[in-house]
Formats: sequence, structure tokens, C-alpha cells
Amino acid sequence: MKQIQEACSSIKEKLTTTPSIGLILGSGLGILADKIENPVTILYKDIPHFPESTVSGHKGQLVIGTLEGKQVIAMQGRFHFYEGYSMKQVTFPVRVMKELGIESIIVTNAAGGINKDFNPGDLMLITDHINNMGTNPLIGPNDEDLGVRFPDMSQVYDTSYIKHAENCAHNLGITVQKGVYVGNTGPTYETPAEIRMLRTLGGDAVGMSTVPEVIVSGHAGLKVLGISCISNMAAGILDQPLTHDEVIETTEKVREDFLRFVKEIIRTLPQ
Ligand code: HPA
Repeated sequence: MKQIQEACSSIKEKLTTTPSIGLILGSGLGILADKIENPVTILYKDIPHFPESTVSGHKGQLVIGTLEGKQVIAMQGRFHFYEGYSMKQVTFPVRVMKELGIESIIVTNAAGGINKDFNPGDLMLITDHINNMGTNPLIGPNDEDLGVRFPDMSQVYDTSYIKHAENCAHNLGITVQKGVYVGNTGPTYETPAEIRMLRTLGGDAVGMSTVPEVIVSGHAGLKVLGISCISNMAAGILDQPLTHDEVIETTEKVREDFLRFVKEIIRTLPQ
């Protein structure tokens, strides 16, 4: 709690407004933060207790300002468990954004498509997740000031936000999928056998992020919207190897639709 407050105060010193929507921008999707007006930019390394982002395609800064008339705070680059950060470190920024005043959070990622009806470049609204990381960011003593000991996860992806996002997609003429996101630790991509297993278990997309941040968002009482950019078909579906370059390439291709979509969601988000 002390660390959260110290990080929060150091950020607040630089702000004149209070953000109400948090954005976590995944691989290749950080460009959205460049659209924020009157931005205050703070490098993670300049925020007390913040870890530093290492993966390529991620920038490592907070961008705070106005987007589509709403006060937002965006993480341009996130922390991954596979980088060696603890679950507490991975989710620390969510705690800080909550302390800064956000009430909603939009979490985005690049993910592999498990569902064979999906195509690379599709956008998927996350309806639910499977925590396949073998750990949980809430393990350890529970601070009741942050949330309850046994948080409900049955509606962690807000159904009214999913409906809202579907309406936005419809209005923009963008097709969106819906489905279950499986969070794996990475950093390996999955084997074809693992993908068959995850499909049997009910997964539609797989990635190496999001689940920890969403668990903590749920614990903190934030309303969550999750969006995956299906950057590739998961292992074994197509006869080709998976590469990070392909992931970045596809997310860059859908960038315009992604930007239009999230901006419209934010513009029309009831508050
Ligand atoms: N698997 C895991 N994580 C990913 C993938 C994938 O196929 N694509 C993008 N992130």
C-alpha cells in the first residue's frame, strides 16, 4: 500500500486532471497512446517502485491525457511474468492506476487464435479467461483496503462493456469475435498438442499477459473490457512456425481498425 501511494503521489505531482479510464496497450498496440491529447508522459523508470519494460514492441511509459473527450491513463507497454517480474510487479501499475482514480480499465493484447473460425487480424472481445499461469497475483496476505480475500471472477469482464463494444463495432462496420482468453506464462509459444488441449478446455485465444492484470482489476473493483488482437493462428493450425515478427506485423496491419474501435468505445463509454 505504501509503495502504491508513493508511486501514485509522484504521478499526481505531474497531473492537473484525474484519469477515469485506464488502458493497457499490448504488443504492437501502443500507438493508441500517441493519440492522447495534451499528454503528460512519464517513463516507468521515473516512477518509484515501477519495474522497467524490456520486450521489443513495448515502450515503457505512462501517457495521461484526453482521448475522445475522456480522461485516460495509458500504459504504453506492460510487464510480463515471463520477463521475470513477480505477479505483484506485473500488476502493480493496475493498483497505481486505481489509486489515481480510474473506475474502468481496457486491457488489450496480441493473442494466438485457437478457435479455427478466427483469422489473423481479427479483433476479439474477451468474454472470460482461463488462468493457465499456475499462479495468481493475489497469492499472499490480503490487504482488505485493496479488495476482498476471495474475489468473485464470474463477471470480471463487464457484460455491459462487451455489449457496448459490440455496438461500437457494429456502428463502425468492424467485425469482432468474442471468446475466452487463455493466459499462459510464455515465453515459449505453445506446442500443437497444448493448443489442442486448450481448445478442448474451451479457449479461443492464447497469450502471455492480461490474466494477472484482469484478476487484480477485478479484486480492485474496476470494470474491465478486454480486447485481443488475433495476431496469428496458434501453433499447429497452419503449417508454419510462429514468430514475434509475425505478431507485430499483424497487429500493425489491424492498427487502424483497432484505433478506430477503441476510440469509439471510449468516446461513447457511459460514465
Ligand atoms: N501464443 C501465445 N502468445 C501469443 C501468441 C500465441 O500464439 N500470439 C501472440 N501472443
